[in-house]
Amino acid sequence: MIKNYFLRHIVYIRIIMIAFIAILSLMIARSFAQQPKWEAPKTADNLSNPFSGNASVLADAKKIYTANCTPCHGDKGRGDGPAAPGLNPKPADHSSAAVQSQSDGALFWKLSEGRMPMPSYKNVFNEQQRWELVSFIRTLAKSPGKK
Ligand code: HEC
Repeated sequence: MIKNYFLRHIVYIRIIMIAFIAILSLMIARSFAQQPKWEAPKTADNLSNPFSGNASVLADAKKIYTANCTPCHGDKGRGDGPAAPGLNPKPADHSSAAVQSQSDGALFWKLSEGRMPMPSYKNVFNEQQRWELVSFIRTLAKSPGKK
C-alpha cells in the first residue's frame, strides 16, 4: 500500500516535470521563431508625402535620424547600429531595395506604428517630422557604385 502510494507520487512528479519542460521549450522556440514579414496596410500607399523631394527639410530629418534611429539602423541606415546584434528581428536595412521599393506612405505607416523591437513614433514625432524622416530614408538608397 505505502509503496504504491510513493510510486504514484513519483509518476505525478514526472508528468508535471515533463509538462513544465515542454512549455518551457515551446516558449524558447517561439522567441526564436521568425516573425511574419512586416507589411503596411494597402491603404498606407495612398498617403502622399507633402515633403518628398524637398531638400531643405533633410538637414532637420538627419538630426532626428542620427539621434533616434542610428542606434539600431546604423549611421548609413544599413541595419547595423550598435544595438542591432541583440535584436530579433534585425533592424531593416534602409538602403536596401526591400525598403526603398515601398511607398512613402508604407514607410510612414511603419515608423508611426512600430513593431517590436522597433518603437512606435506616432507620439514621439509630429506628422511633419515623420514625413521628413521618410524623405531622409530615401537619401540612404544604395546608388550604383556607392558602397
Ligand atoms: C530599438 C531599435 C530600433 C530603433 C531605435 C528604430 N528602429 Fe526602425 N526598425 C527596427 C527593427 C528591428 C525593424 C524591423 C522590424 C520588423 O521587421 O518587424 C525596423 C524597421 C523599420 C522600418 C520598416 C522597414 C521595412 O523593412 O519595411 C522603418 C521604415 C524604420 N524601421 C524606420 C525607423 C526610423 C525612422 C527610426 C528612428 C526615428 C527607427 N526606425 C528607429 C528597429 C529600430
